[in-house]
Amino acid sequence: MRVDIFSLFPEMFAGPFSSSILKRAVDQGIVNFKIHNIRDYTHDKHHTADDSAYGGGAGMVMKPGPVFEAVETVQAQALDMKDKKVSVILLTPQGRKLTQQMAEDLAKSDWLMLICGHYEGVDERIRQHLATDEISIGDYVLTGGELAAMVIADAVIRLLPGVLGSGESLINESHTGGLLEYPQYTRPEVFRGWAVPEILTSGNHGEIAKWRRRQSIIRTAERRPDMLKVVELNNKEQEIVADLSTQKSNEEDV
Ligand code: ADE
Repeated sequence: MRVDIFSLFPEMFAGPFSSSILKRAVDQGIVNFKIHNIRDYTHDKHHTADDSAYGGGAGMVMKPGPVFEAVETVQAQALDMKDKKVSVILLTPQGRKLTQQMAEDLAKSDWLMLICGHYEGVDERIRQHLATDEISIGDYVLTGGELAAMVIADAVIRLLPGVLGSGESLINESHTGGLLEYPQYTRPEVFRGWAVPEILTSGNHGEIAKWRRRQSIIRTAERRPDMLKVVELNNKEQEIVADLSTQKSNEEDV
């Protein structure tokens, strides 16, 4: 996958892409990152990338010219990417809120272009005529789209084949399959007097799988009941959820 990031602060990207799993993905040639400074596509002495808003008001707005030129220059130079599936994503708190499903869909792209907006706003024509999608990483406002671009790149790249060591690690994790992950334990079996649930040391894999599924459901019901509205549960599993909510309302009545 090719990932091009367009930013006014390219130096912010040095850390995340040069360590850990993302670095391995780069070293193995699974992903090819390019970070572009939008200011390199300005043509005045001061490299002006933003300007005051038409109609007045406080704050600066990112100019369309340098952003269009940056993205279009990179597209024109990428001769090998013609006919490839490209997503041009504007990072903005006004976008669709990022989910695991969206990360999975984006992982099917050949090419991601991520445009980091400025927190005070970008010229509307960038949204209308350049971006194919707008994504937010949550209902809060960051100083710019840079951290959001890193979050998306991380969430997507770890899904690409060959990036994670073991295929297993993608299968049982939170949000894959619509539930939160079950509780995990490692050695020692007893830590400060707190023991690992007995079932996990029983060696009975069938029972362990059942326990884990049940714990995932309980955990999701307690922490993220909104997720249970879309996940498919069998009758027995629905009973677990119903029992939990009866238990909860009884507790509230006391
Ligand atoms: N830029 C500023 N805040 C953002 C957010 N929450 N998501 C994506 N981009 C942003």
